[in-house]
Amino acid sequence: MSNSDFARTLAAWQRENGRRDLPWQAYSTPYERLVSEVMLQQTQVETVIPYYLRFLERFPTVEALADAPEDDLMRHWAGLGYYARARNLQRAAQDVVHLHGGRFPGTAEGLETLPGVGPSTAAAVAAFTTGEAVSPMVDGNVKRVLARIHAIRGRVGEKDFEAAVGAAARAALPGSADIAAYTQGLMDLGSLVCRKKSPACGECPVRDFCRARVLGTPEAFPQPKRPLVKTERRLLVGVPVSRAGVWLTRGTDTIWQGLWVPVVRETPLSEVNFGLSAADFGLDGSWRARSLGTMKRELTHQRLFIEAAVLECDSGDLSLKGFTAFPRDPAAWPGMPTPVRRLVMKALDGED
Ligand code: ADE
Repeated sequence: MSNSDFARTLAAWQRENGRRDLPWQAYSTPYERLVSEVMLQQTQVETVIPYYLRFLERFPTVEALADAPEDDLMRHWAGLGYYARARNLQRAAQDVVHLHGGRFPGTAEGLETLPGVGPSTAAAVAAFTTGEAVSPMVDGNVKRVLARIHAIRGRVGEKDFEAAVGAAARAALPGSADIAAYTQGLMDLGSLVCRKKSPACGECPVRDFCRARVLGTPEAFPQPKRPLVKTERRLLVGVPVSRAGVWLTRGTDTIWQGLWVPVVRETPLSEVNFGLSAADFGLDGSWRARSLGTMKRELTHQRLFIEAAVLECDSGDLSLKGFTAFPRDPAAWPGMPTPVRRLVMKALDGED
């Protein structure tokens, strides 16, 4: 059985049995497809859907996104994480508007010149919009499917593995009539059938092509990633609250850059605190500290140990330190990282 049989079988299955009601599937226009593919780069479909709908409602065109104030942009991205994606997406929109006369490049090669758009995202957008079938979309799901079909040994991220998967993906590319259904089919298969754990091989439309199934060990492909050694960091988060409201400033730490945060201080992991005080946050003694407890936050490359406190001072004013007071009503808050937003909620909860 040939590569073209594989692609044709998968595309036919996608048309019959694949997902057809994901919100971005209503579009074959590059702006809407780029937004969805960028959101989906590191975030699950179910999480992305409400963000995607809200984002398009607020920024319905590439021009609207290009012109968006940073705060507005970040408020609509807050909670999705990986905030560099939002900034790059806006830069891409600005390039389209200012360098390409408002029209997206029509090829994957052209799309790849936009900030934040790698070969895989460019290939997906091209496949779904112009039907270009020159380069393959290869995300995590697709890697797993192809590793099983061809019984490719190794781990995601390893050079030989990536090269073999890339070659398999290029060899299987169908013609442009099938590229959209085929590309979506690979992702649908990975998500619905060829799951990481307990793949449903009995239901698989391409089981006759699958070497891992013949070997009897589909779950063994790809081999599990080696555990990442994460950088551990200890952050103190102090939420200053005064009569004026809750005081926030724009984050400068790389993980939260562009979002709004209260006082964030990094301290050595080894330091032991017996109760936080205003001085731990660089504030004077008129602010009273009350602990909000500790939390752990796992990011891809970092593990954050967060120790939080609310800092109270009726007449407190941090405007000279670059902070802005926001009302207590969460509807009026700017874009904050999710764990920080929760802490601010908690800080205000204990009041009144
Ligand atoms: N992940 C990346 N692109 C996707 C798409 N178009 N549909 C579902 N999941 C995806």
